[in-house]
Amino acid sequence: MERLKLETCFTPALFEPGLHSGSTVVIIDILRATSSICTAFEHGAESIIPVAGVEEARTYKNRGYLVAAERDGIILDFADLGNSPFNFSRENIRGKTIVYSTTNGTGTIRMASSAGCIVIGSFLNLSSLCNWLIQGNQNVLLFCAGWKNRFNLEDTVCAGAIAERLLNSSGYSTICDSTTAAVDLWSVAKNDLRGYIEKAAHRNRLKKNGLDDCIDFCLTADYTEKIPYIKNDILLSDIR
Ligand code: MLT
Repeated sequence: MERLKLETCFTPALFEPGLHSGSTVVIIDILRATSSICTAFEHGAESIIPVAGVEEARTYKNRGYLVAAERDGIILDFADLGNSPFNFSRENIRGKTIVYSTTNGTGTIRMASSAGCIVIGSFLNLSSLCNWLIQGNQNVLLFCAGWKNRFNLEDTVCAGAIAERLLNSSGYSTICDSTTAAVDLWSVAKNDLRGYIEKAAHRNRLKKNGLDDCIDFCLTADYTEKIPYIKNDILLSDIR
């Protein structure tokens, strides 16, 4: 049987919408959007409405929605929550719909809207996500949110961790050098992931703003089995 194709896109600047209409696209934004999304659904969120723009998020706030929004890591002045996964506690979000806007993550999600299927990937749902992808029958694109259209280390390392598992299964192959590079970066980082991420620019942005208390958590494998996915432009809890 022909093996499924696995590709990796390092940043939205490199994304080609028309190429992935039949693929499953995995959105990866480790610090912190996809880590926060996985946490929110593990803690019982009903749904998440990703919006790319600040003014769109503000409009939802004015209509009485619960809003989680940040730019450059800092909570927006009208938002109820910032984007630390620790903001998405059970008492804050259980059973609620959250309007969500982040610096890179939500725009990346919206950019992938032409994909056959959009799911959320992080270290927090790593094994469940990989097992689901391996059982599936669709080509996969690992789509890193990066930082403002630039490559970042943390999303690429996570893409490498996912790619390594998929390529070690019999179901996937790749001729994509970005995927090979991501796997190589994961092999460099995996024995001391927390130590490696000290190099990441966004780790240091978060530290400067006193927001780096969640980094160990964002690098923790398998906190949840849920695989959040997009249906009709809204994020729901688990595609399985
Ligand atoms: C992003 O959207 O790139 C990040 O999640 C920003 C952040 O929350 O620090």
